Amino acid sequence: MKSKYREMKEITHEDYLEFVKSKDSVIIENTEIKLQKKWNTKSFGPPEDYSLERTTIWSFPNRGKWATHKGNYRGNWSPYIPRNLILKYTKKGEWVLDQMMGSGTTLVEAKLLERNAIGVDINLDAVMVARDRLNFSYNLLFSGYKEPIIKTFWGDARNLNKIADESIDLIATHPPYANIISYTKNKKLSDDLSQLPFEDYLQEMKKVAEESFRVLKPGKICAILIGDTRKHKHYIPISYRIMETFLDAGFILKEDIIKIQWNMKTTRERWKAKEYEFYLIAHEHIFIFRKPRTEKEYKKYKFSIKWWENDKI
Ligand SMILES: C[S@@+](CC[C@H](N)C(=O)[O-])C[C@H]1O[C@@H](n2cnc3c(N)ncnc32)[C@H](O)[C@@H]1O
Repeated sequence: MKSKYREMKEITHEDYLEFVKSKDSVIIENTEIKLQKKWNTKSFGPPEDYSLERTTIWSFPNRGKWATHKGNYRGNWSPYIPRNLILKYTKKGEWVLDQMMGSGTTLVEAKLLERNAIGVDINLDAVMVARDRLNFSYNLLFSGYKEPIIKTFWGDARNLNKIADESIDLIATHPPYANIISYTKNKKLSDDLSQLPFEDYLQEMKKVAEESFRVLKPGKICAILIGDTRKHKHYIPISYRIMETFLDAGFILKEDIIKIQWNMKTTRERWKAKEYEFYLIAHEHIFIFRKPRTEKEYKKYKFSIKWWENDKI
């Protein structure tokens, strides 16, 4: 059956080269992002004294500026996050998916770490930014490096029609939050999840969770970074509602990692005064879900995840 959502259209390196013939920059939300066209970068990873995360609290005060990471795409995640996820949960040559890739931070890390990757974004301009960030040479400098396959698509995370069932080894993605940052303010893309009111957003994120479940191989990991917000001076736990959505799609929860927020340029930062009667939100969640290998495994875990639904209690 044909999906009501946009179908995936591949945007190749050649499409990108054609695009940059007439454009030097794109506008994402209110920010102009320069298209570099070719990078001459010499740093390809975190500082040498950095060691991978070992606890459930992650904090990156220096967000990471190696390779082509610029940190200027609204809502981009620190490259330390996909780097940790890719290294912990995949091997070289396996497939990583970021279906809301924005500026392509996950894909750049996949390229550096020799993993194949697929990136999708609803905003064609974002896809071009991601292709731009991927336009650097790395293999020439390191012997033994095997150039991974990196594919980018203009498409909707709710309809991953060009990705086969059970073909992905790791999903690492950072969805927009309901009504907090609009990524397409200038163009008003109706398919942009950041445009939706909260309850509609949750309904649509259910489709994202179901598609994630379909494309992931059994036993593999789906990691989502998501934050919360405040309305009328009270806390709106977007993250936990999203967590429920992914559990309902059939995932089981492996980790809940607290990520400290350093750069809060979102609307949360509008609280500029020194004192308020509430605390400033300074953390987000990285939920690490796993697709169970079998129905039996799901049932075994279900009791501990949704203990309140177990009628034996
Ligand atoms: C938080 S940003 C991701 C940032 C990215 N991790 C990075 O480092 O640049 C969320 C992205 O989701 C995209 N998006 C919104 N609705 C979408 C949809 N229905 N399908 C795919 N992408 C969507 C937005 O265009 C935006 O680029």
